[in-house]
Amino acid sequence: MSKFLKLVGSRILSEANDLKRTITSMSQELGIEESMLQSVVNGDASYEDVLHTIGMMEKIYPIDASDILLIEDDCFEGVKIMRSKQSTETSRIFNRLDRHGSTDRPYYEYRDTAMSKLAPFKPEWIKELRVVENSDPENPDVVYNNGHFMHQITFFIGPVNFYWEVNGEKFCEEMNTGDSCYITPYWKHSFTSRDKSKTALILAITFGGDVRRSQKELYAYGSRIKNFVVNSRNSNSATSELLNFHMQNENLSIENVSTLAQKKKINIDINKLLDPSTEKLHHEKEEIASLLNISISDLEITSYLSDEEVVVTHRSNCQEYKYPSDSNQQYKIRSLARTKKMPLLKSFDISVLMDNNDISSGFYSGLHTYIYNYGESDILVRWVSESTEFEDYLNPNDSMYIQPFIQYSFSKMSGEANIFCARTCGAINISTMKELSYFSDVERVYQENSCWFNNEK
Ligand SMILES: [Fe+2]
Repeated sequence: MSKFLKLVGSRILSEANDLKRTITSMSQELGIEESMLQSVVNGDASYEDVLHTIGMMEKIYPIDASDILLIEDDCFEGVKIMRSKQSTETSRIFNRLDRHGSTDRPYYEYRDTAMSKLAPFKPEWIKELRVVENSDPENPDVVYNNGHFMHQITFFIGPVNFYWEVNGEKFCEEMNTGDSCYITPYWKHSFTSRDKSKTALILAITFGGDVRRSQKELYAYGSRIKNFVVNSRNSNSATSELLNFHMQNENLSIENVSTLAQKKKINIDINKLLDPSTEKLHHEKEEIASLLNISISDLEITSYLSDEEVVVTHRSNCQEYKYPSDSNQQYKIRSLARTKKMPLLKSFDISVLMDNNDISSGFYSGLHTYIYNYGESDILVRWVSESTEFEDYLNPNDSMYIQPFIQYSFSKMSGEANIFCARTCGAINISTMKELSYFSDVERVYQENSCWFNNEK
């Protein structure tokens, strides 16, 4: 029996429970034999029968069929490796204008690296084909893109110029191997080479966050999505706007809130709290939050730092440490560009120092991990999935995706062994973790196998 079809069957039963339908009642409404529907739910039916069932469910019920068809795990025991040769086979060269107006001048060569259907990122190897003679951000040979929907973390290899534009102002920074940057969605940017005799490339990890995962709703609401935006660049204004949002949801006017506060003997000035220009004190936020049955964090936004629109981190300024300890130096780790806006975005430049590192003192994380071998040494990767140990080699320019909560280690085979590592969350972020932790049964979340009520003695 296909594990995937069994999971989809379980998901169909979960949706039926949400719709308060039994197999019998659903079979009548969908016009599907009850025995067939039971097979679909059990995971015994064919893929075509499963698709037909989901199609009929979407036709009859107000549901999103694409929510039911799960993602098929395309990894082997929690990991997926893409070989350098496979990456080379995906090579695409794109032209961009040059200073003379020619449109057929190459700008970038793109290659795919390890990607999985389950991973939140789309990591690309991008070679800079446009060579510049200076680091002027207004250089007419530099063509900025229009910015994009995905966040981007970039790792630099070789003499690469990084350009970006924020609020109409253009910048250029000279980058070298081991440098990194973070780019906020939709800020324009570009990359060029400073030396045609050297390799100049970037590893660009673009990924979607919660907004990406809300895309279906955002498309449906159109321009109304502006109402969801608060002034993230001013925390006092953001708190007032969030307070107004919670009051609207509670059907509470300013007068209602004042009356409620008086009744509960809470001393707050609601007009002041709703005034975006006033400073909100911690105890004021605490009191209004308790009055509205929300947490104080529901009224706050991470403080805005103007230098976090684009974060540039040079290797010389990285935090560097030995892992797991100074007395057991298996790896040298440099922390790359960070932003408080994306607390679950981590990236590292890792030097593998030993040739026989054990898994138990390796790495383990609840985030999705991307790995690229940018050094000269073959690297032995060991990992554990379902209590079984596996191993494979990651040769230079090979890349790898690792699912959350897979333990792994790297050992170098010869020479310098260098890895670029990037991590971020999928749909399961801190907010999802908190909600999941409140559930009384977690196992049933991924293997629903019963109706929401029992009708047998
Ligand atoms: Fe980009």
